[in-house]
This record gives sequence, structure tokens and C-alpha cells, in this order.
Amino acid sequence: MVRVNENYLKIQASYLFTEIAHRVKAHQDANPGAKVIRLGIGDVTEPLAPAVVAALHKAVDDEAARETFHGYGPEQGYAFLREAVAKNDFQDRGLDVAADEIFISDGAKCDCGNIQELIGADVKIAVTDPVYPVYVDTNVMAGRTGPSSNGRYAGLVYLSCSAANGFVPSPADLPEPVDVVYLCYPNNPTGATATKAQLQAWVDWANANKALVLFDAAYEAFIRTPGVPHSIYECSGARSCAIEFRSYSKTAGFTGIRCGYTVVPKGLVAWKADGTPVELRPFWTRRQTTKFNGCSYITQRGAEAVYSPEGAAQTKATIDFYLENAKLMKDALTKLGYTVTGGTDSPYLWVNVKGDSWAFFDKLLKEANVVTTPGAGFGQAGEGFIRISAFNSRENVLEAIGRLSSVLT
Ligand code: MLT
Repeated sequence: MVRVNENYLKIQASYLFTEIAHRVKAHQDANPGAKVIRLGIGDVTEPLAPAVVAALHKAVDDEAARETFHGYGPEQGYAFLREAVAKNDFQDRGLDVAADEIFISDGAKCDCGNIQELIGADVKIAVTDPVYPVYVDTNVMAGRTGPSSNGRYAGLVYLSCSAANGFVPSPADLPEPVDVVYLCYPNNPTGATATKAQLQAWVDWANANKALVLFDAAYEAFIRTPGVPHSIYECSGARSCAIEFRSYSKTAGFTGIRCGYTVVPKGLVAWKADGTPVELRPFWTRRQTTKFNGCSYITQRGAEAVYSPEGAAQTKATIDFYLENAKLMKDALTKLGYTVTGGTDSPYLWVNVKGDSWAFFDKLLKEANVVTTPGAGFGQAGEGFIRISAFNSRENVLEAIGRLSSVLT
């Protein structure tokens, strides 16, 4: 008799964005003429930068000739991209990260989900609440939790985030010792940013407690405010306790192309039960070489072009465009009397709706044909909020503002 992985039975029936997609489809089936505007899942809408498109085309041509054809690539990524990442994202910013500490992948979601394979089954995990569901669900699947009740899994430690702590928890908020904490700043879903001092407190805590910080910096490219940290490695001591995830999805419109990377510094260790330290970087190499055949050559050439002078300017312009969308919506919602977090160094607006978040989601869907994301889908502490994504055309954003204004006035 084949036994099922019963941990899956503990997980909510469907992934948050799948549930939203079902509700939107049901609404559209019932209202075939409705022009639905999607400000729910953070999926980009603007085309790729011309420099990226040119690099992708050229890479396709490489694959068309015997002399330049590429079959299996290195599982960790091609040197050309790892070096471009190390230089542009870290070394040029004064950060100590080397090319052989960069692991190119098909996106940060996969890496955030897969990384927990490197750590023991019995470690204690802390997450923020609200939280990007991938951190939680992958640990549930791996059996690190008990059943869920009221949207929280037994065995997981939740760090509640609210306006009171600026949506950034501190190690002092930990109700019990933990071994791993997932942090994401600029934050998904709240759009909040953390200060360097706040991140430094987590790094100091991790180093003092032989703990690990899993830092998701997928939204780093949206930071415009001077002084807001772009990387956990801006904190001293982070190399010995932190793994960082980055993505080209929101940075360069790669949600459909798929590319991201993970930084696993040399010397970063976890411990055996007998207290012997073991380096995690060789483990991640082993994991990737066993289970992953690398991100495609064509994709990696496209990602490399993000760092060319034209590519950098073009991708920045697209992010500026989304940030302007965010500003327009934030201003409009503020005028309507709502308190809004995020939307300045982030594509997400976290709106206090002063009521049930699924009910508010349904109201906006039914009365305004606007899709948002209910805060409760991100955790118990997300109740009372909705998340609005700034990824859309200007025309749709202005139309959505008009509709929200008439429904919410
Ligand atoms: C989101 O909407 O939270 C993101 O698009 C999800 C993701 O990046 O996987």
C-alpha cells in the first residue's frame, strides 16, 4: 500500500492565488461582459526591456548553430551571469559576495521552497504574519508542523506584523527560541521596508543563536528611498548566518521567462546533532546538481542583459512606471479615507479595510470588477487588509481607481 505524504492533508485545499483565480473565473462565467481588472497576484504586465529581448533573440540564434549551441548548462548557472550578478548586485555596492556564491535558478519561489531541504526536519521555524504562503506551505509539506487551526500551524512560530511595529518584527518578539526565520523586505504582502538597524538586529540574533536567516529580496529593485537596505549582506556578520533570494520576475518582467538566484555564502554553516558545523553551500550545490538541470542558456542570456547599460535603464524605467501606478492608487485610496502601507519602495499596497478581507475582496470583485488579494490569505494577522498590486497598464490602473472611488465612496 503506497502511503500518501499526510503532511499535504494539513495544507489548505488550494494555494491562495489558485483560490482567487477560481473566484474570478466564477465571477466572469456569471458576468461574461465584465471587464475585470487584475490587481491581485503580483504578475507583471509590461513587455520585456528591448535590450533583454535582443539578448534573448541572439541566444536563440546561438542555439541554431553547431559552434554556439548549448546543451545542458552548469546547474549553478553560467559564469557570465553569476559574474554579472556578483559584480552589479553586490560588489559594485560594496558587498562581499563572489560569483561562486551565486546559484542561478528558475525563480525565487522555487528556491524559497527548496531551501528548507537543507535543514533538519526538527528545526523550529519562524515566519512573519502576514507572510508569503510559500515559506509556510513548504515547511508544512516537509512535516515541520502540526495541523492548522484558525489559519496557524502548530509548531510554527508566527511573528505578528501590524502598523504598531511598522510590519517589521524584531527578535525580541520571538515567544520561544527558533532556529530559522524567513524575512522578506520590501515585504510581500505589506509593502513595508525594514531599516538596516532592524535587519542588523536579526543578523546579530542569528549569529548569537546559531540560527539562520532566509532573506527574500525579490522586491529589492523597487527600493527608491535612500538608506533602505537592498540586501541582507549590508549587515555586518550576515555572511555567516543568512541566505538571500533574488528574482528577475518583478525586477525585469521575467514572471513568464523564469529566472532568479540564491546567494549561499562560503562558510555559512548549520550544525549536526553532535554540534559539528556543516557548510550549507556544498549541500545546495549537491541539491541543485541532483534535482535541477539549470535555467536555460537563452533565459540566462536575457537576465545578463538586465545588467547592460541599456538593459538597466530600461528595466528601471519599467519599475518606475509600476511605482507611479502604486503612487496613484495610494493617493486615491488615502483620499477615500483608507490607511495604506507600502506602494513607495514596493509594488504592493496594503490597505486597511476595517473589516473582513474576503468580504471586501468579493465586494470589489462583484461591484467594481477589480481583483485584489484578501489579507487573510496571507495569515491571521492579514485579516482586515487587502493587498493591491501595482502591476498593470496605466489605463487599467486609472480605470480601477475610478471604479474603486465610486464603489467605496
Ligand atoms: C504574489 O503575488 O505574491 C507573487 O506574485 C507570488 C510570487 O511571486 O510567487
